[in-house]
Amino acid sequence: MNGKEIYQKVRSKLKEHHELFARAIPLIASENVTSKEVREATLSDFSHRYAEGWPGERVYAGCQYIDDVEFICMDLAKEVFKADFADVRPISGVVANMALYAAFTNPGDVSMSISIPCGGHISTGPLYTSKGAFMGGTAGAVRGLNVKYIPFDRRALVIDTEKAEEAIKEIKPKLLHFGASVFLFPHPVKELAQTAKDLGATVTYDAAHVSGLIACGYFQDPLNEGAEAMSFSTHKTMFGPQHGCVVAKSEQEEFYDKIKRAVFPGLTSNHHLHNVAGLVIALAEIKEFGKDYGAQVIKNAQTLAKALEEEGFTVCGKEKGYTKSHTLLVDISPLQEKAGLGKDIEERLEQADIILNRNLLPWDMFEGRNYLNPGGIRMGTSEVTRLGMKEGEMKQIANFIRRVVIDLEDPKKVAKEVNDFRKEFQTLHYCFGSNEEAYKYIEID
Ligand SMILES: Cc1ncc(COP(=O)(O)O)c(C=O)c1O
Repeated sequence: MNGKEIYQKVRSKLKEHHELFARAIPLIASENVTSKEVREATLSDFSHRYAEGWPGERVYAGCQYIDDVEFICMDLAKEVFKADFADVRPISGVVANMALYAAFTNPGDVSMSISIPCGGHISTGPLYTSKGAFMGGTAGAVRGLNVKYIPFDRRALVIDTEKAEEAIKEIKPKLLHFGASVFLFPHPVKELAQTAKDLGATVTYDAAHVSGLIACGYFQDPLNEGAEAMSFSTHKTMFGPQHGCVVAKSEQEEFYDKIKRAVFPGLTSNHHLHNVAGLVIALAEIKEFGKDYGAQVIKNAQTLAKALEEEGFTVCGKEKGYTKSHTLLVDISPLQEKAGLGKDIEERLEQADIILNRNLLPWDMFEGRNYLNPGGIRMGTSEVTRLGMKEGEMKQIANFIRRVVIDLEDPKKVAKEVNDFRKEFQTLHYCFGSNEEAYKYIEID
């Protein structure tokens, strides 16, 4: 292929991708879709520029409007998270986590976080070796932290508060880092933060998944429950561009200085200014529409969970109402003989244009399953909510999933009905424009 042909091929792949998402049901818990207003900002000339340093104190020229936008972004982040400090320069959730590790720990220090099988994220995990190679989570492999796990009640899917308090007293971690990737129920920040702080820990909270809900006033309020800093991605329940952020609340200015130094020059040079601009607009959308959006996301997750249970699935967390966030976790191991495990079911649903992901269950390892083909599937309702879906649609989605996974109907046949169903949900809600086509491929003339 010559250069022009490569360009044309990639362009047509991008368009096909947009078409896929315009006809499918998007249920990946870590994803969302941005508004036209956010996308326009991310396509601006900000994407060509550098602005190293803190706004107003840059070591680059040409930054006057960039500074103005970044100050607005910081102010809005402080407002929606009820924080006293915001650094909007981390370029992702992992980088935001790494900034907290760099600011408040030294290599060799002990940190505590949730293990991956219990819903934790790789960026909070320990170092391990595989076939002689060093691998593992950012905390262990990159920062050199000695990661210990926060005791977790694997069946109730919550932190075991009593055992966690004992463990904190015994381990005396330098960093207690709450937060998770399968985050169904709030973490006991209020109950555990003071104990950890009294023993010398910094208490932080990874809100990568739930930052949008927190910004809208739901789930929990970590900074006002005892966490001193919160790291997050801006594109999961929050519908910003892919970026990261740290917000904090502390009595000491030095606490903020440590975060600022860790982010720059520690972890960023160029901090993706177009995404900062997009983030401002997403935060403005949250300020305007967040109450309704957040409430509907959670209502949709709870309705989808209940509907799946009624269709014959085993949905985790039933005793506690399945979920208090956007996420739900389904134990598909009882269907193994008929339909296979997480990987098989994820692939079968993808053929029906239902897009979700396989997920480890907290007890999978004890039953001989691993992350490649685990016993669970995870779903999130942020993106379908943004498309205007409500409780009735959640019941319809649960029915489609049953037909593919339990009735073993031909997924291609179900896909046709899924595509018809999606025709009604092509525009974005909770944004400033009306009738915004959610997955329109934007061509620049
Ligand atoms: C709990 C948690 N932390 C951090 C991250 C990483 O975020 P990012 O992909 O923005 O780097 C994720 C991603 O899913 C996550 O679930």
